[in-house]
Amino acid sequence: MTETGSWSRESRWLHAGIAFGVTWQLFSSLWMTPNWAKAEYNSLGGILFSLHAWVGLMTALFILWHWLWLARDAGARRQLFPWRGPWALVLAEAKGLLQGSLPPTGPHGGLVGLVHGLGLLAVTWMGLTGAAIFFFLPQGGTSPGATLHSLVPLHTLLANIVWAYWIGHVSMVALHVLRRDRIWNIFRLWE
Ligand code: HEM
Ligand code: HEM
Repeated sequence: MTETGSWSRESRWLHAGIAFGVTWQLFSSLWMTPNWAKAEYNSLGGILFSLHAWVGLMTALFILWHWLWLARDAGARRQLFPWRGPWALVLAEAKGLLQGSLPPTGPHGGLVGLVHGLGLLAVTWMGLTGAAIFFFLPQGGTSPGATLHSLVPLHTLLANIVWAYWIGHVSMVALHVLRRDRIWNIFRLWE
């Protein structure tokens, strides 16, 4: 993150793409009905499955863009994956949370960065396995192959972790909103 105290323009666009995409994927997965033989547009479940496939592919591209951005930006990488510390900040923020005080908003690493990093890893898995499924979906009435059968359970493996991340992440944002913190900056795309 090149700007201090606020999210850089690139990180805001990346977040918008991933947050919208993954949220759409989670909710569409609740009602979609995959037709393994062919695309189906005469039922809501069928349309939702097609959208899950295409929006999922778009989301996977945003996730890929996020990794390309992290490859260039060592500061952002250290914030999301503080494997080499400073662990004191992570522990201090965890202790603060237990005592009811929220960590500050904006890009700063610590416990918040670590949780965001783990969330990014989980959605990366969903994007990779989903994109692989996309290319093994049967075309025009052929039956699904063995590769597809083995990919689907790999894709659904982390679904509950992504749900837990989503619920926790949105709840933390809601707590900040209740405290009237300036947390919406990440959604200001045109500034
Ligand atoms: C599962 C989908 C989502 C993922 C994977 C995700 C991921 C992230 C990540 C990685 C960051 C840190 C930004 C960065 O390092 O580039 C972040 C920040 C943020 N996200 Fe999300 N997000 C998701 C959904 C949402 C949704 C639905 C909302 C709307 C309530 C939201 C609101 C925010 C806000 C307000 C911040 C800034 C926090 C701060 O300033 O401390 N996110 N998110
Ligand atoms: C970041 C991208 C994606 C996310 C976050 C995501 C998320 C999910 C979730 C939460 C489920 C439900 C798992 C469950 O029932 O336990 C699911 C199922 C599924 N997704 Fe994705 N998905 C993504 C991309 C894709 C793509 C690109 C495809 C390609 C077609 C795809 C195909 C499927 C299939 C076939 C299922 C299983 C449906 C079933 O057996 O009922 N996903 N996905």
